[in-house]
Amino acid sequence: MPKITFKYQSGEIITAQEKNNLSILEIAHKNGIELEGACEGSLACSTCHIIIEPYWFPKLDVPSWDEEDMLDLVSNLTPTSRLGCQILLTSKLDGLVVNIPSFQHDVRDNKK
Ligand code: FES
Repeated sequence: MPKITFKYQSGEIITAQEKNNLSILEIAHKNGIELEGACEGSLACSTCHIIIEPYWFPKLDVPSWDEEDMLDLVSNLTPTSRLGCQILLTSKLDGLVVNIPSFQHDVRDNKK
């Protein structure tokens, strides 16, 4: 089973090991990680925003256009930002390290 490490801005680190093909958002929720995921993976928010460690970023599949569109609305976007609901943890990504942003903004708030 592949491992994943979550890093908070505070320096706290949580490592999890889960079966293949769960999304990072699902793994976060199973392990008590503070990653909201307000739309439950339907690409209608940005509250599952994560920042991939640079070493791992090129190893991920490229984001879909829909994910890119949502990422464009993230206020604290970085060059290695992704949406946690769109990345499945597989053996290929065993050891993946992701950072949890200190602030997660729900883009749906802009539409009110
Ligand atoms: S949970 Fe809403 S886009 Fe990922």
